[in-house]
Amino acid sequence: MKVPLLTIKETPSPIEVKADSLFVELTMRVICCLLFGIPVDKNRSTSEGPPLEIEKVYQAMSVLSYRFLRVATGEKIWMKYLPTKSSREYWEARHYLEKFLTPRIDLALQMRDKPNKDWSEISPLFKQSMLVKIAAKEPKYDRASLIAESIELSIGGTDSTAHSLSFALAELSLNQNIFQKARTIVDRSWETYGGITLESLKDLSYIRAIFKETLRIYSVGSGSSSLQAERDTTIADQPIPRGTKIFWSTIAAGRDPSIYPNPEEFIPERWLGDDGKNNQLLMIDFGSGSHRCLGEHLAILEATVMLTMLIRYFDWELVNGRSSLKNLQQNLFIYPVDRMPAKFTVREFAKQTVNVK
Ligand code: HEM
Repeated sequence: MKVPLLTIKETPSPIEVKADSLFVELTMRVICCLLFGIPVDKNRSTSEGPPLEIEKVYQAMSVLSYRFLRVATGEKIWMKYLPTKSSREYWEARHYLEKFLTPRIDLALQMRDKPNKDWSEISPLFKQSMLVKIAAKEPKYDRASLIAESIELSIGGTDSTAHSLSFALAELSLNQNIFQKARTIVDRSWETYGGITLESLKDLSYIRAIFKETLRIYSVGSGSSSLQAERDTTIADQPIPRGTKIFWSTIAAGRDPSIYPNPEEFIPERWLGDDGKNNQLLMIDFGSGSHRCLGEHLAILEATVMLTMLIRYFDWELVNGRSSLKNLQQNLFIYPVDRMPAKFTVREFAKQTVNVK
């Protein structure tokens, strides 16, 4: 995975980039910053633990993600103890991630257990991290449970948003009328606010709608979660006895014409009311019930900011055109096999000023 993140502004325009790999790096840096206090800027180092080696961490996460999918769809948990190639890969990946995570987790636990010690050497970013906050709040957490939580959150927070962003990028390229409408909104927002601010985010409902429409059509987490009936019930006239495991497809649900008319069409407007603000259309792509996605709001915020920045500063076209959207695979999340190569051109006005950091 070759990722030219943070070098676009120095690179002659146009530049061809595997957009999906770029988004993976971006989302991983964001989630690792929030969770572990690792600076997003790769040129800044931290003393609390090993650096984030994107390719190695991503490789290990991919192995674990694929196992999550297999377990969710029926593989027995004990199968990881069989002497098979996939078990060996699982344990290697797991040990690598544990080695990466343990120094920061141990430090967070020490900070919880010795609050009066002098921690002034520790970076403010780490002190503010979710890891330190979770460890401090929940005395029941120990190293093993924090490793498990950290792995789940980093896996949940990377590919899901990254692949969804790739699909949004593709749809924008293939639907120039939607792209132009989005650009008008983004440019107007820049004129009013001078960039992305808390205030301007309120005016970017259309960009959020583009992302929600992307999630509806390319529901990247489809098939990766299941439900269990807690009582006897009935779904679509079908009796479901208590204890039944139910697998459901959010991709199929998102194409239900009774809820989403013209389901095959990419129509961001369906997510907006007459006032241009969000409406209450059912969105099932983050799951449902008590296990509904923990990172839903983070994902939507991240995607809104990333898409807005891209629309503001770049034009782009897909190298493989629509076929990037046809050739898909699923690890835990659905992704484009070709990693969505796209040619980006910096907008004329921005050539001197663009800063994608
Ligand atoms: C577009 C982005 C995302 C999509 C489509 C997505 C989708 C999902 C889905 C379908 C579930 C299963 C819900 C269920 O079983 O009912 C889930 C759970 C979860 N997601 Fe996300 N997710 C996204 C982003 C994120 C992010 C950014 C995070 C990071 C904080 C995250 C963390 C989690 C966690 C921790 C769970 C497990 C919740 C639980 O079991 O209680 N997700 N997500």
